[in-house]
This record gives sequence, structure tokens and C-alpha cells, in this order.
Amino acid sequence: MADKKRILVTSALPYANGPLHLGHLAGAYLTADLYVRYKRLVGDDVVYICGSDEHGVPITIAAEKEGVSPQDIVDRYHEMNKKVFEDFGISFDYYGRTSSKMHHETSQEIFLKLHGKSFFKKKTEQQLYDAKFNMFLPDRYVKGTCPNCGYTEAYGDQCENCGASLSPTELINPVSALSGEVPELKETEHWYMPLGEIQPKLEQWLNTREGWKANVMGQVKSWLNDGLSDRAATRDLSWGVPVPLDEAKGKVLYVWFDAPIGYISATKEWAIENGNPDAWKNYWQDEETELYHFIGKDNIVFHCIMFPIVLMEHGDYVLPKNVPANEFLNLEGKKLSTSRGWAVWLHEYLEDFEPDLLRYALGSTLPENKDSDFSWKDFQARVNNELAAVLGNFVNRSLTFTDKFADGKVPELINPSKIDSGALQAIIDQKEKVTTAYEAFRFKEAIAESINLARVGNKYFTETEPWKTRNENPQACNNTLHVSLQICAALSVLMEPVLPSSMKKLRDQLGIASEINWNTISDSMLTSNTKVDVGEVLFNKVENSEIDKQIQKLEERAAANNPASKFPELKDNIEFGDFMKLDLRAGEILSAEKIEKSDKLLKLQVDLGIEKRIIVSGIAKHVEMDSLKGQKVCVVANLAPKKLMGVESQGMILMAEDSEGNLKFAETTAEPGSPIT
Ligand code: 2FM
Ligand code: ZN
Repeated sequence: MADKKRILVTSALPYANGPLHLGHLAGAYLTADLYVRYKRLVGDDVVYICGSDEHGVPITIAAEKEGVSPQDIVDRYHEMNKKVFEDFGISFDYYGRTSSKMHHETSQEIFLKLHGKSFFKKKTEQQLYDAKFNMFLPDRYVKGTCPNCGYTEAYGDQCENCGASLSPTELINPVSALSGEVPELKETEHWYMPLGEIQPKLEQWLNTREGWKANVMGQVKSWLNDGLSDRAATRDLSWGVPVPLDEAKGKVLYVWFDAPIGYISATKEWAIENGNPDAWKNYWQDEETELYHFIGKDNIVFHCIMFPIVLMEHGDYVLPKNVPANEFLNLEGKKLSTSRGWAVWLHEYLEDFEPDLLRYALGSTLPENKDSDFSWKDFQARVNNELAAVLGNFVNRSLTFTDKFADGKVPELINPSKIDSGALQAIIDQKEKVTTAYEAFRFKEAIAESINLARVGNKYFTETEPWKTRNENPQACNNTLHVSLQICAALSVLMEPVLPSSMKKLRDQLGIASEINWNTISDSMLTSNTKVDVGEVLFNKVENSEIDKQIQKLEERAAANNPASKFPELKDNIEFGDFMKLDLRAGEILSAEKIEKSDKLLKLQVDLGIEKRIIVSGIAKHVEMDSLKGQKVCVVANLAPKKLMGVESQGMILMAEDSEGNLKFAETTAEPGSPIT
């Protein structure tokens, strides 16, 4: 192909410190895979690289928690994550790992070349130190209060509450994550990247970038407006790529310095594996290459500012043409959180459903420009109302009809009507729309326009009524089947990027050979008389019970991880003035009697110190009648009186509801009448 492009696509290297969840897939992997599959079909020369990020504090902290070595942790999760990506059809050409020899050497070479060019600034500084563990405390080894928003659980590198990027010494009241003790300050040396000095050059380069998403450029501009500051490229840690300088013994490269270099080292390994060790240079050192980094929004600064500066100053590498970062995915309306157990693990999903279903459902709700939400109900609706009812149904009715009434072969198209030609034209129109959307990184739109072709097909099938024409006008019926099968064939390629495994099944049913490409999508993909197979239905409906099971699993896991989640979430803040309107008093129950015809309500006489009140309370099932006399209680004394079962209630007794729904008195030892403030 004359205008065949050379394209290098990377997806963020996930930390090998735990299993992958939905948020990962939605952030950096599904979109990249859609793009890569589309580009391969177009015929471009594509290499898709990813791998495990095996260094940094996230790994060593995971190892310490489990009492095993960092190597044990990365070995376990590297294999597990690699497999789950394969199972989801994420079609990497190579899945590397940053603990490899190649990666260590490549990172050290790049560091040394920059060092030779006097890129780094060496600084002597005071860093937080845990004397008990004999260790400096970089990044997440220290927690404290965020100087920006006051959040008390901020990490030494970032506040997860306000998103501020921090350095450990900025934290207020820092505490070591290792010993829980207050760290001391100790002198150390580090090599800094002078990002601020390179800012003007970086801005010039950024100004030449076209078609970047607003959410990405917006975040980049905000960093630039604040002014870039120096960032250390080294750490006092024992796990990582050793700094290749004699004067830096015992120090390693900062994980965000070495991790993106992992894209380069993995490409080198890919080249060796493919028997052409120099092939990586075509992708990294030839200006013709288009480099795309797919990431989540928390990685924007590293891929749009820091890594480009490293590559730019090094001088031998291409810089990204685009960084189509996604925003975050929420789950059932709440922020995803692995520590709170609020996540759907990909390996667990696969125990219950096919990968294509999630690829489609997630692809249709991607957080492309703003955060989006995944819910199991929406998953069910996408599968049942779109995959099964639109795509699956159209394919099934086309194939079943052909099997029954056209001898299982694609009938000839003779004298097509206007409506037949219109439906065939829709193949060309939809292909055009899908192409435009993929080229602009608008993946949700690409998927929606793809399945729209099946909608057109269904409408066409219904309007041309082959069940009638089969007797009245057999050629019209044949034309309907011919056109419908051509639409099925077009769909089997058009939807390949999102539904690789189901579309392969469909192509088998249609007798389409394995070699396909984007150009084969046309209104005449199938030749007349080709034998087709009804085969099994492509998509089964998801039952309510299956969805209930998933929601229950999620809630149980969250409850187990966070006992507090048994209780309702806190209500919104109220003004102090609103609170002051309440008149709460200490009281004492003098007598209690049941209210007729009610099994819940009790009529209580309560001594409020200044006066006695009748209060009707719905606590009959939760208290022993005999023990009520003399019970000290808290009372809302200025609640407007209200009649309940014919008795006027002059206040409310405060009760606390435990996680099982039992009511207990909110007690007080104060003298009746005392204001509770
Ligand atoms: O955020 C993360 O999960 C990082 N491990 C991503 C690294 S991307 C690249 F730089 F390797
Ligand atoms: Zn903060």
C-alpha cells in the first residue's frame, strides 16, 4: 500500500502489584486495542507495546504488606496481568517487564547520555528518614496532611483528594508508612531534571501538536501555567534500576524516569523476538513513525511533559504525535477503589461472562472526555438491548431465513429496489462514519456508528417483509437476503475491533476467509451462492439474577474491606446555624404503654426537667417494656407536634440504628432538662 503508515502504540505499563480491574481496561488498554485493531485492518504497519511496571514504591509496599520480596510480587502479577490481557483480546505485539536486563541497560544508557550532556542538576538536600528502618522515605513511604487541601491521608508524592503533586517534605505532620513514627530529616544527594528550564522548548513542541483532546491539553496547560519545577530522577531505595554513577551507590532511578523507557526496551525485545534486532530503531528513531501513548488521566504529566523532555534532550528518539488520555471510570456511581474493595477484577469477570460483552459495554461508556460510570444494569442493557436484540438478532434472522428459504446460500441480487440499494449504500456510509471516528480517537462514536449498521439492517429486514415476499415475489425475498447477508459481512469486519471473538465466529458462519482488511468492507463482500451456516446465536441475554449476583459480590467485598460501609454514607454538610435551630434536651422516661392497633408505636411519658411530654415513638419491637421506666434519653424538644394513631407526639427520642437495623437509645447521663449542644 502506497501510503502505509508506521505506527507505534503504547499503553501505560501497569504496576505489577495487584490484579487488573475495569478501570484499567477503560483507561489505557481497550481504547488502544480498538485503535490498533482498526489500524491493522487499514493496513498500516503497527507495533503495539506494553508490559509490567515493576519498580517504585507501589511494588515494595505491596511486598512489605505480604511479607514477601518485591521480585515475588512482580513475578506473580506480571504473569497474571499478561494472561488477563490476552484473555480480553488486548492484542499487544509484546508485553515486556521493567525488571528485565534489557530495560535496566536501556534506562541506564539514557540516563548516562543525559548526564553526559549535563542535563541533570545535582542537589544536596534534607529528606525525611525513618531511623528505625534505616531508610529514606520517598513518595508513598510517607503520609501526612496535604498542604493544599488539608486531607490527612495524603501521600508523599501526591494528594489523592485534591490531585496536588507533592514532595514528602511538603506534608504537614508527616508519618512514616513503615514504622508509623515521625520521620527525621537527613541529608542526601539527588539528580534533578530541570523541567522548568526546558519549559519554553517543550511549549514550542506542544504548539506543533494537532488534534489533541481538550481534556489532555487542558491539564498540560494548567501544569505549564503553574510553571514547571525541578523533579528528582533518582531515589534512595534498594528496588529499581541502579543509578549508573559511582557517586550514586545505593540509589535507583525514579520509577517515573525508568517506566516510560520501558516502551523502548520492550520494543527492543520485540525486535529480537522477531529475528530482526535492529527493527526497533524504525519505530523509535525514524521521524516518519507516528507514536501514540494511550494512558489514564493520572499519567498525563509524565507522558506529555516529563518523558517528552527526556526524549527531546536525549535527541535520538521520536516524540508522541498524540496522547489520547482517558478520564476516570467510576463504578456504580462511586469512585473505584482497590483498597476499599470497590472494583470489578477482570479475572473474576471472566469467570461469569465473555470478554466481548465487556469490551462492547465498556467501549460504549468510555470516559473519553469526562469521567464516566460503569454499572451492571447498564452492562445488562447494552448486552440485551444492543448486542443481542440488535446485532445478534439481525444476524440470526438473516442466517435462519437464508437457511430455510434460500438453501443456505447467498442468493443473487437481481433488479434491486430503491430500498435494497439504500440499505447497501448504508454499508458505505457507516464505514465512512466509523473510519472518521477512529481516526479522531472518538471510540464511543466509532462503536455506536458500527452497531448502527445492524440497526439499519433490522429496519430494512422488517420493512421488506421477506416472510411475505417469499411467496408473493421470491426474487424480492432473495434480494432482501442478499442485502442482509452483505450487511452481516460488513459488520463482521466493521465490528472486529470491538468484538474480535464474536466477529470471528460470524465470519466463520458467513464463510469469510481469515484474511480481512478495512478495504474489504463493501456492499459486495459475499459472492452469490456462497454457503452460509446458521451456527449458534452470537449473544445470549444476561438474566437479572446474573446481574444481582455481581452487585451482591461487589457490596459484600466492599463491606468486608471497610466495616464502615455497612452504614449509610454521611449526609451533606449543613450550616452551623441550621444545627443551632435544633433544641436537644436530656430526658427521662417516666412511663410507657402500647398504642392500640400498632405493633410499632409506644406512648411514652418523658420528664424534660422543665415540663413533662407525651412522645410517640416507633420502638416497640426494639425495647423491653419493663426496662423503659427510668431510661435516660436524648430528645428533640422543638419538633412541631404531630398526631400518630390519634395521639399527639410532642417531640422525638433519638435512637441509633446499628448495621442490622436494631434501634438502641442514644443515652445521656445528664439531668433531665439539660440542653444538649
Ligand atoms: O500509573 C501506573 O500504573 C504506572 N505504572 C504507569 C506507567 S506508564 C509508563 F510510563 F510506563
Ligand atoms: Zn490535597
